Amino acid sequence: VPKVSKICCIGAGYVGGPTCAVIALKCPHIQVTIVDLNQARIDAWNSSDFNLPIYEPGLEDVVRATRGRNLFFSTDVDGAIRAADLIFVSVNTPTKKTGIGAGYAADLNYVEKATRRIAQIATSSKIVVEKSTVPCRTAESMRVILEANSKPDARFDILSNPEFLAEGTAISDLVSPDRVLIGSLQTHEGKEACKALSEIYANWVPQERILTVGLWSSELSKLAANAMLAQRISSINALSAICEATGANIDEVAHAIGKDTRIGPKFLKASVGFGGSCFQKDILNLVYLSESLHLPEVAAYWRQVVEMNEYQKRRFTRHVVDTLFKTITGKRIAVLGFAFKADTGDTRESAAITIIKHFMEEKALVTIYDPQVEHEQIWMDLQEVSPTFTLQQIKRQVQIAPCALDACAEAEAVVIATEWKEFITLDWEAIYEQMSKPAFIFDGRLLVDSAKLAKIGFKVSSIGRGAEVTA
Ligand code: NAI
Repeated sequence: VPKVSKICCIGAGYVGGPTCAVIALKCPHIQVTIVDLNQARIDAWNSSDFNLPIYEPGLEDVVRATRGRNLFFSTDVDGAIRAADLIFVSVNTPTKKTGIGAGYAADLNYVEKATRRIAQIATSSKIVVEKSTVPCRTAESMRVILEANSKPDARFDILSNPEFLAEGTAISDLVSPDRVLIGSLQTHEGKEACKALSEIYANWVPQERILTVGLWSSELSKLAANAMLAQRISSINALSAICEATGANIDEVAHAIGKDTRIGPKFLKASVGFGGSCFQKDILNLVYLSESLHLPEVAAYWRQVVEMNEYQKRRFTRHVVDTLFKTITGKRIAVLGFAFKADTGDTRESAAITIIKHFMEEKALVTIYDPQVEHEQIWMDLQEVSPTFTLQQIKRQVQIAPCALDACAEAEAVVIATEWKEFITLDWEAIYEQMSKPAFIFDGRLLVDSAKLAKIGFKVSSIGRGAEVTA
């Protein structure tokens, strides 16, 4: 089995950073170097006050324990490739914006560039691990590129090791994963490389949780896992629409069906819609794959999961407008939460972005508060989603508040877009005092106690609850 004493990770993002920081923590005998082309990102990872580029509970402690010991962050991509025995490719794989497969296919340009760099630089044999989420059979393309460009003494074994961490719980997911999945070619060399990587994880992950499979199963399993998770959310959200129309309560329905052990209780929370960098991208990727394989019915099935999510966001906005007497023009609406979920500062594909875009189109005045998201990020996201608005125009309609209370001052309605725990315990009576009356709350995350708020005087609307519940 090849011995691994040095690891390089290409890509210091939400996946590369936490994943390899935890490897460094659990494997003090291995030197781990995380590299990125983005100087600002690397500087933030190296910052003396640990002002890290991503917010993740527990991450700072891991970096404090390892940085400078056996964990290093650098922009010297070539040096780290040369020194490493094993290289994780953890670069971004966004949805293509133009060209063939635009809007569906994964943009593999970053993976290919990193792969070519490895081939060009490596002077000794390496295990190359695909950590990014990629379409099925990408490992094959990587193998062809590596072999066609390698130096005489360098041979490459390619593994697929998709990452199942969820943002917001990344560190605990990495420290005690449900499973680690490693795919390899079923050749002698492939299996040896697979063993080398499982030995790294075996430093802290019980053997029975380390699953080894074929390359293509491993690649497809990542897309499949995200597709099934997103499908669960779209399923419960589809039911939430029926609840609102009938007076049934989606939390009661979710509880009742979740008691069935075949269904299980987790991930059955209705909401304004899923976000995040992965679910939509990976499903669209699966749709594209299905179409390329001439399986249109399969493609249509998965596409509907994304369509239901878009519908849920539209439905939510329409409900806000209808409830506010069919117009929100010139009305102040406080949006609490901008991140795509709680405990992260990540806003990629956040439902809040779409909702605020709709509010802007209705000419509402929006005040946003989020405990983690950088203001610059909010402005960038709003500009990107509304390219016909200039930043100046956006700022005429949108403000960012320093706290929830300020955001809600003089608002006609409060919209809860992210399930930050701190919103549960806000001083809702003080908020009520400062709002225009009637004061509306639209709980897009089923977060707050609607009965309690109704008692204060709020008109509360919660996803998946019939109107009479709060009347
Ligand atoms: P990210 O965008 O945060 O990080 C990717 C980093 O790679 C960027 O900092 C970029 O500068 C760097 N990079 C790109 N090309 C490079 C090159 N040639 N050399 C050096 N650095 C390069 O992306 P994130 O969120 O970490 O995702 C990475 C992959 O992991 C994606 O394929 C994603 O689908 C997958 N994934 C993401 C999860 C998440 O929760 N964010 C969870 C599981 C998988």
